[in-house]
This record gives sequence, C-alpha cells and structure tokens, in this order.
Amino acid sequence: MTIDMKDIVALCKRRGFIFQASDIYGGLNGFWDFGPLGIALKNNLRDAWWRSMVIAPPLGPDGSPVEIVGLDSAIIQNPKTWEASGHVGGFTDPMVDCKETKQRYRADHLLFLTPLDGKSVTIKGKQASAFAFMQGTSNEEIKERLKKLRVNKEFVGTSADISDLLAFTSLENVNLSETVGPDASEPGTLTPPRQFNLMLDTYPGVVRDEASKAYLRPETAQGIFLNYKNVLDSMRVRMPFGIAQVGKAFRNEVTPRNFIYRSREFEQMEMEWFCPPEEAAQWFDFWVAQRKQFWLDVGLPESMLQLRKHDQDELAHYAKEGLGTIDVEFQFPFTAPGFGELEGIAHRGDFDLRQHSEFSGQKLDYLDQINGNRRYTPHVIEPAAGLTRGVLALICAAYRIDPNRPAGLYLDFHPSMAPVKAAILPLTAKEDHVPTAQKLYMDLRKEYVVELDIKQNIGKRYARQDEIGTPFCFTIDNDTLQDQTVTVRERNSMKQDRIALHKVKDYLKQKIR
Ligand code: GAP
Repeated sequence: MTIDMKDIVALCKRRGFIFQASDIYGGLNGFWDFGPLGIALKNNLRDAWWRSMVIAPPLGPDGSPVEIVGLDSAIIQNPKTWEASGHVGGFTDPMVDCKETKQRYRADHLLFLTPLDGKSVTIKGKQASAFAFMQGTSNEEIKERLKKLRVNKEFVGTSADISDLLAFTSLENVNLSETVGPDASEPGTLTPPRQFNLMLDTYPGVVRDEASKAYLRPETAQGIFLNYKNVLDSMRVRMPFGIAQVGKAFRNEVTPRNFIYRSREFEQMEMEWFCPPEEAAQWFDFWVAQRKQFWLDVGLPESMLQLRKHDQDELAHYAKEGLGTIDVEFQFPFTAPGFGELEGIAHRGDFDLRQHSEFSGQKLDYLDQINGNRRYTPHVIEPAAGLTRGVLALICAAYRIDPNRPAGLYLDFHPSMAPVKAAILPLTAKEDHVPTAQKLYMDLRKEYVVELDIKQNIGKRYARQDEIGTPFCFTIDNDTLQDQTVTVRERNSMKQDRIALHKVKDYLKQKIR
C-alpha cells in the first residue's frame, strides 16, 4: 500500500500532532511546531531512548549493564568549539541558485536529463541541452514539465518510458548555460555550485561583529565532548562509558523538505561511547545491533528497516578513518521502495577529543589506573538518532487505511508510544453515565495518559481515537449502571468485550506493558 505524504501531513494538522511553524503568518520554511499530541508522542520516544541509554542501559558483552550518564549542554558554546570540530571549515553542502526564480537547490539533490543523441532544443530563443529536476521527481512529473516547456514532443514523443530518449547524467557533465533549472522557464539561470556552510549564527551580547559571532549547535555531540573532562572528574565513571544527550540542533538546510524529515530546527538523541581504541570494533558492532533493536522495540516493523554502510565518499569529516558509519534506515513513504536515514552509528575515532585538546590546550585523555597507569585518548562510537525524524517514522509506520471504520484510517502505534493510552467515553452525556466515567478517568489518570471525551456521538468519538492511535476505548453505558461492567474496544481489531469496571486498570496494565 502506498501512503501519500499529503494525507499524513493533513492528519498531523487535523489531529494536533504537527503544525507548520508561524502558521498564521504563512509559515517559515524548515520550521515546525509540535501540537498537543505531537509533543506527547515525541516525549514518549525521547523517554524510551533515555530509558534504554541512561536509566536501564543494555547489558554489555560481559553480561553486566554498560555505564552511561546523561547531560544537557548549552545550545550555544564558545565558537572555538566549531573550529575545532571541523564544522566552521567543513560542514558545507554544495548549493546552486536559480537567478530567475530565486530558488536554491542542493547540487547533490539535483538530477539532470539530456537527450540521448546529443540533441538540443530552443526555448525562448536559447539553446537547451539539459533539464534539471529535484531528486524524487516521478517520470510522470518529468513528462508534465517537459510538456509545459513545449519540448515534450522532440524529447519524449509518445514513448511511455522517458529513458528511451533521455538519459540521466550528473552536474559535471552538463553545460549550465544550456540547462533549464527545476522551476525555470528558460535555460542558463542556474549558478555554478558553491559551498554553503550549514551552521546558523547569532551574536550573543551587545556587539554585532565577526569577533562576537557564535553558532547554534548543528549537532548535540560537541556539547558532550566539551564536557568529557567534567564528567570524568565529577562522576565515578570508568572506561568504557557513555554520555547521552537529547536536544535541539539547527542546520541551515539548503532545501528543507519532506515534512519534518529535513528541517532547519530539529532534535537529536546522541550518545558518545568512549572506549579504549582496541575495543572500538567490538563496541561498534554492539551499538549497531542495539540501535536497530531499539527501533524494533518502539514499533517500527523489521520489513521497513535496514542497515546500510556509508560509502567512503559520503563519510562525515570525523569518520573518514577507522570503521566508518552504518545507518539505520527507514522506508519513508517519500523514499519507498528505498530507505532514508533515521540514525547513524559512527566510529569517530579520537578525532574530536584530539581536536578539542589541541584547540583548548586541555588534556582530554584517560589514565587507566587499573591497567598499569596507561594513558590514552579514547575512541568514540556514536549512535546519533533523529528524534524528530523518529516521530515521523513512528507516524508513517503506524498509518493504516481502513475503509471499514468511520475515520477511514487509524494509527497503529505501539501502546508504549501512543500519545493517549485509553479514552473513557460515556455513551451519552446523560447524567447517569458521566459521573461513572469521570470517576474512572480520575482513577486511571494517576497512572496513564487517558482522555475523558463526552461530546459528540460515539461513532465520531471512536473515529477521533482511531486517528490519534489510542489503543483502547472504555464505554460507560446503561449496563454499566446495572452490572458494573464497561465495553472495551480494541483499536486494531475493533473487537468489543465487556469487562468489570474494577478490572479496567489491571486490563490496561497488562496490555500496555
Ligand atoms: N553527531 C552526528 C550527527 O549529527 P547526522 O547524521 O548529521 O550525525 C544524526 O545526524 C541524525 O540527526 C540523523 O540520522 C537524522 O535522524 C537527524 N537529522 C540530521 N539532520 C536533520 C535535519 N535537517 N532534520 C531532521 N533531522 C535531522
């Protein structure tokens, strides 16, 4: 079943998960607000991650729990941080501008089509020998665009398959002065690519000059490296150990897109695992397996997940040497049948600690007093996940179309992730149903996120709970008053059972575990 992202975006808005930021002012590209149900879902995912890292970390290869401590560092750090980390010099994307439309594109996200036989056509009196499209543009959309430019006949004719007459090529092989941009009306409007730094800057304090420029962090990781020594000196940690952090990160993405998948403000869940260099390979494998299991545990199906090793040319600057990076990828609707990155597990070697040690003049190594006072700079294995992206994956994986129910769809969240665990629905707003429902609500809310919904007919109320993925609905009706039982409706099967009112809490406890 193919899911249309437009339907997911509409559901998220309609039911209070995610809104365009600054909606009433027409939005701001690359920024999103989490609504009441979105923040509940995001917190559930964040809490599950924190639990799996800091509160109850996994058992290591020797059978005892590994040691990970938490951290919440500042978003803005001394700007030297980003010189040392390589972000000032190297955190760039190649960017192409369109002089006609003022649109900006990531050069590596553009596809170029040229006629197979080297032909060219004339558009507005200018020669055109290539057409640029955004990655992901369908064949149908390509044909439609060529038709609009009135070159459909020459290039595509009546062939159903564009590849019969046109070939995809890369930017290096086209003449930009003869290339039509993705939204342009004539050739020659695209600029050559230039490197564009992705960090957003700001000026803390009253002076606004180059010397007072600081950056909004593009990754939470560096706050961890800056506190490596503080944690070693203040906590009773011993190698190997981890420091975990969840928080906002900012990147001035050239083309934010696919809803919250690539935005300019987002949240990360990162853990830096410090270990002796010779143990790096073992821990790399360990964390790859752990991280995949985490995403299975929160409800992403195995069939929609894959692990992918980075090719050498796509490795980040800090992972160029050593064991590289493996991504946990999810099959998003806009990547299907392909996959998109959800989390990266990178071997950062000793790059960051070495750089910060050099730039700060501080010793950032480890003295192993148990093993003969050996001194070394630890290696780092980093599982770095997107919290915002994880929320999108949860919603996409849960989305079920079902014409047999009033809403026509439901969200099949794992109960632990569902923003609302149960709804309590008095059948009518009559006085005799409501007080019993209120009493049950007051009791359950001590332990679970539950909703008491009194308004509208019962069908509409079930429809809403289906759309927000509530696993259970308890209905209070006339029989409840007679025999102290309630109807429980299970979201996925829509099966209804009667259970004793006093057993509702146990029922939930058993099902939600
Ligand atoms: N510290 C390593 C690091 O930041 P990354 O692969 O650039 O690595 C880690 O980012 C994760 O953060 C990604 O796997 C993705 O889930 C998320 N992420 C990165 N850029 C994002 C963006 N613009 N919008 C939403 N999530 C993003």
